[in-house]
Amino acid sequence: MVVNGADVLGHVGLSQPDAATLEPLLAQAIGMPAGPVGSLTRLFVTPPGRGHGHATRLLDVVAKKAADLGIPLVLDVSDDDHGAITLYERAGWQRVATTRAEWLNAAGENALLHHYVSPETMRKPAQSE
Ligand SMILES: CC(C)(COP(=O)(O)OP(=O)(O)OC[C@H]1O[C@@H](n2cnc3c(N)ncnc32)[C@H](O)[C@@H]1OP(=O)(O)O)[C@@H](O)C(=O)NCCC(=O)NCCS
Repeated sequence: MVVNGADVLGHVGLSQPDAATLEPLLAQAIGMPAGPVGSLTRLFVTPPGRGHGHATRLLDVVAKKAADLGIPLVLDVSDDDHGAITLYERAGWQRVATTRAEWLNAAGENALLHHYVSPETMRKPAQSE
C-alpha cells in the first residue's frame, strides 16, 4: 500500500491461484508449474497519486515478494486499461495470451483479457514437478 499521512494513494495484491486453473497458454509460458503461482491483482493508484511512479514501485514490491517465495508471477489486464498495459509493457512484462472473460465490460461485452508474465519469471520459468 502507498500512503500519504492518512490517505491511501495506491495498493496492490498478490494472490496465489491454483496452477490448474490458469489459462493454458499462460501456464505453458511459465513452464507448467505444479506448485503455487503468484498473480498480481488489484493494482490501483488514486487519480491525485498518479504519474509519480507509485505503480512502478508497487510492481517492484510484488516482484520481490514473488521472488522471495520462489513462485512465478503473472497478471491479467483488461484491454480497456490502456494506461496499465503501457505500464506493464514498459516494465518488461510479456503478453503471452489473450482470452475473453466471463464478465462483461462497460460496453456490455465479454471483456478482452490479456495475460502477462513478469520479466523475472520469463528469465527463470518455474520447474514442473
Ligand atoms: C495504471 C495505474 C496503476 C498507473 O499508476 P501510476 O502510479 O500513475 O503509474 P507510474 O507513475 O508508476 O507510471 C509508470 C509508467 O507507466 C506508464 N503509464 C502509467 N499510466 C499511464 C497512462 N494512464 N497512460 C499511458 N501510460 C501510462 C507510463 O509509461 C509511465 O511512465 P511515465 O510517467 O514516465 O510516462 C493507474 O493509472 C491506475 O490506478 N489506473 C486505474 C486502475 C487500473 O487500470 N489498474 C490496473 C488493473 S490491471
